Amino acid sequence: MSTTSTALVQETKTQQVYTFLRDRLFGGIYMAGERLPSTRDLAHEIGVSRALIVEVYEQLIAEGYLEGRRGSGTYVVDLGGRNPLAADIYEQGSSVGLRDLTTSDTRFTGIDFRPSFPALDLIPRQKWKEASLAVLNSTSLYDWGYADPAGNEELRGQICRLLLHNKGIQCHPSQVIVTAGATQAIMLLCKLLLGPNDAIASEDPTASFIRDIFASSGATIIPTPIDEQGLCVDQLPTLISPKCVFVTPSHQFPFGSILSIGRRIQLLEYARANHSYIIEDDYDSEFRYAGMPVRALRELDAKRVVYVGTFSKNMFPALRLGYMVVPHELVAPLIQLKRLTDMHSPALSQAALAKFIADRHLEHHINHMKRIYRKRRNRLLTALGETFGAEVNITGDAAGLHLVAEFPGRRFDTDLAAQLESQNIRIYPAGTYTISKGKYEDRLIMGFGNLTEEQIGKGITAIANLLK
Ligand SMILES: Cc1ncc(COP(=O)(O)O)c(C=O)c1O
Repeated sequence: MSTTSTALVQETKTQQVYTFLRDRLFGGIYMAGERLPSTRDLAHEIGVSRALIVEVYEQLIAEGYLEGRRGSGTYVVDLGGRNPLAADIYEQGSSVGLRDLTTSDTRFTGIDFRPSFPALDLIPRQKWKEASLAVLNSTSLYDWGYADPAGNEELRGQICRLLLHNKGIQCHPSQVIVTAGATQAIMLLCKLLLGPNDAIASEDPTASFIRDIFASSGATIIPTPIDEQGLCVDQLPTLISPKCVFVTPSHQFPFGSILSIGRRIQLLEYARANHSYIIEDDYDSEFRYAGMPVRALRELDAKRVVYVGTFSKNMFPALRLGYMVVPHELVAPLIQLKRLTDMHSPALSQAALAKFIADRHLEHHINHMKRIYRKRRNRLLTALGETFGAEVNITGDAAGLHLVAEFPGRRFDTDLAAQLESQNIRIYPAGTYTISKGKYEDRLIMGFGNLTEEQIGKGITAIANLLK
């Protein structure tokens, strides 16, 4: 029986069989005009009584899904391909297609080269459990009520300490706002700073969910190309002043370049001249494999740069905790917006995270994972090199949890991705991340964070077999 029906434990058996059949009707497993199995056969197939199947068939006939033909059986009514259950999903925002929804499905159990995704099986669960328990055991009654919209004070202090140590950022906890991941930080910034008459310049390519956040503000998106030195600052608009410029300077997403110091200076000059805010998304740069972590753009300007960080990569995505460090003038309006959005991020998880960081577990976990991710990255590099030799160029592998594999002369499209998906391998063509379409179609963005070395080897072999 389908997972939809088995998952609904409170449903009666009749309801479960009803849902099961309706899923099959809408899923196209039973086609219009097709004769359904006899009540006896279906009862036997799914292990329920025949009376129950008769009852469900009668219900579906009454509702117009099926029709009974005397002496001949029960048939599927032709609904002209319409599926009222799916309509809600398909119509949510024109830019969110079915593929986008499925690529965000983290329950895919095959070999998933999802970029920028951490190893779920190596999350420090025991230490996290201990930190959470310690917090639960030490709460006062007050801790179970509403909390500060800006975030847990201890956590904001720990974030400042980490940022100073790792990124050279000097900030005060009062400038830190804890959010539901980087996603919410970017959403709140766009909501506050952008309206339909404004513009935002963004690196192109960028993460598709970030592009969708920009689009949701109604502002004009100005795609700005990137190269091996990061954002091509000299291609930012000159006739209009964008309210914001979005960048990932420590590790461009998805191409991995680092914004050079020359470009950083140029970008800050541009932002000052145009009164633009720079949104600096630093999503994964702790995992750097060559040299030291790259310093933040925010280090160079506290007035024009909003720094956005996340615990989705160095801890785990389900935690839904991230933060932003904001210029003084934006503190009050952003806290107010955060309060109006969701009051505050979960207070007990924030307290547990503060303890986890204070006890140095985050630091140890990052160091431990850096060694593991380095091995996975090396395995991917070797497998690509051995399998494709000179047919592949690899870039963007110095940091983070993914790299870029370019196959000159090849074209990766959704058909190819679908063929691999049918073999339980999921790939991510670079073309899906572009704002201006038709570029970088010969490249794959290949995540290795949540794959074992064995899975990486198998995945590359499967891709090679398909490309032969
Ligand atoms: C470019 C980029 N920024 C930020 C994030 C993190 O988002 P969040 O913190 O909401 O999980 C991701 C996640 O994949 C990303 O790709």
